[in-house]
Amino acid sequence: MNFLVDTANLEDIRFCNTYFPVIGVTTNPTLIAREKVADPVAHILAIREIIGPDKQLHVQLTETGFEEMLEEAGAVVAAAGKNTFLKVPVSPVGLQVTAALSEQGIGVTETAILSVGQAVLAARAGARYVAPYVSRLDNINGKGVEVVSQIAAILQGFGMGTEILAASFKTVQQIVDVGLAGGENVTVNAELMRQMASHPLTDSGIAGFSGDWKRQYGERTLLSFLRK
Ligand code: E4P
Repeated sequence: MNFLVDTANLEDIRFCNTYFPVIGVTTNPTLIAREKVADPVAHILAIREIIGPDKQLHVQLTETGFEEMLEEAGAVVAAAGKNTFLKVPVSPVGLQVTAALSEQGIGVTETAILSVGQAVLAARAGARYVAPYVSRLDNINGKGVEVVSQIAAILQGFGMGTEILAASFKTVQQIVDVGLAGGENVTVNAELMRQMASHPLTDSGIAGFSGDWKRQYGERTLLSFLRK
């Protein structure tokens, strides 16, 4: 199971890229607009600079016409380099764009997936990833994980070569459930990622280890004994 961080905030990206085993960053127009930067392209390049050339950067298209989306996609990839994926919102024109970009060897993440049917069409059109929105589905009918499970059954059952990149999480349990349902990749906001890495009983356990050691050995560490 792979993790990406779902944010355009540079501090959060720096933090998650340093401490957590993330394979990349996903953004969307809302997340970039939230940063209130004057130049979104410079911001995207700053994200690329932080994560380096080998990690994935997913950038959503903002054009809405077929030709314009293709042009925008080409320009984004030219600017942000290899391992850049274009997020294409699922729609008739989105599927047309997905097919065209995939033919050119450009990676597409079909986004805003709210049904199994959308995911299967996107996979057939050649999307590298499909991004079902778990919490938004849960808010409608509580079936976010079930939809991911059904998408996984079809994509994996037919060997369609498209992976799930599940998005829109509000709880750690949703992430775990998506993994158990067959979602290979998840994109998670920085706050939830921090929550996922911690547990109050872990903190008290670590404090206990430290206190027990210090009572016996004072400030000396194991390393200081090894160095003699
Ligand atoms: C990710 O790519 C999506 O855009 C994002 O996870 C949506 O999350 P939200 O439902 O919290 O806005």
